[in-house]
Amino acid sequence: MAAGQWITIGEVAWRTGAAVSAIRFYEEKGLLTARRTAGGTRMFLRSDIRRVSFILIAQRLGFSLEEIGVHLRGLPDGRTPTKKDWEKISRDFRASIDERIAALTTLRTRLTSCIGCGCLSLKTCGLYNPEDEAKEKGAGPRYLLGDKPSRA
Ligand code: FES
Repeated sequence: MAAGQWITIGEVAWRTGAAVSAIRFYEEKGLLTARRTAGGTRMFLRSDIRRVSFILIAQRLGFSLEEIGVHLRGLPDGRTPTKKDWEKISRDFRASIDERIAALTTLRTRLTSCIGCGCLSLKTCGLYNPEDEAKEKGAGPRYLLGDKPSRA
């Protein structure tokens, strides 16, 4: 291990603001890979600071660890990712963020009216989703997912 390139879990935690337990959890979930010293101490690449920061931000944006893992799979293991590696992740992640923005925008717009979830609990559902017509379009909150009510 080249000195300077490897840092302890405590340094990763201090630098990212993540709890040591969270970093261990990310490692367990395969989002990070630690190396062990002869004495068994976990060591991380200094570039893992960026990886952990990415995880923290993506979680704050509402992405699950599974989704984050899919994005991080594109990064190389055991070496510092290059600018090109991060550009690829960034492009893919941007597409996911765009999808999320579109879903949130739709949710914001439809929050006060029927989202086609099948609950039929608001007065407007009687207009937009009488007799739960939305169920014919599939499972889930159909109008939030992009389906249009037959009559609106
Ligand atoms: S809001 Fe639930 S079915 Fe309309």
